[in-house]
Amino acid sequence: MKLFLDSANLQDVEESLARGFISGVTTNPSLLSKEPKANFFGHVDRIVELLEASGRPVSLSVEVFASKPDEMIAQALEIRERIPYQHLAIKIPIGWGELRAVDALARRGIAVNCTCMFTEEQAILAANAGARYVSIFMCRLKDIGGDPAKVIANTRQILDRGRHSAEIIVGSIRSQSDILEAHLAGGHIVTAGYKILEGTAVHPQTDKSVQGFLKDFEAWIS
Ligand code: E4P
Repeated sequence: MKLFLDSANLQDVEESLARGFISGVTTNPSLLSKEPKANFFGHVDRIVELLEASGRPVSLSVEVFASKPDEMIAQALEIRERIPYQHLAIKIPIGWGELRAVDALARRGIAVNCTCMFTEEQAILAANAGARYVSIFMCRLKDIGGDPAKVIANTRQILDRGRHSAEIIVGSIRSQSDILEAHLAGGHIVTAGYKILEGTAVHPQTDKSVQGFLKDFEAWIS
């Protein structure tokens, strides 16, 4: 039932860390492109500074932006070398050729978050190739009429039966109900944007209850 923050925004990271509920941060090239234009490694370094300052083992997933498997491996090794963060995971998109990159990095002891997944079979391939995380894209699968809850549940069942250590990250989350659905379906981890996570903390009845308690207490204490 772990929660990751799906963002490359420094303030999102800082505010989430300050509340102690995230155990990871996932980024991707599109999320990075939303941030002020900066040096790739410089921006990732600033995220790492925040994570290290938290004093907690917060995972950070950084995605390669190369398109050929050999280039992905080289880029991943460069990222690993330039971002020596203990809890770094390299995101590699699933694909037949990309599995070579998953295997090559896993053999080097590099945590791989194999991403852009839509089927159980993709997750099984990546987990067997040594991926630490398998990322299933919930709403993008719904967009094409798929049943992500079933894919997540099946994948979890298969991993559990095989006593495989790979964890399912459910991404492509667009609402609070998606978070619940992903957890109930069996996702080990749900990664969601800051505003969605923030929204899960509030409820009108919570506000009403707190106001009522304070009002009664004020009346008693005064
Ligand atoms: C997770 O790490 C994914 O990159 C991310 O959740 C994708 O979300 P999107 O479908 O909103 O781009």
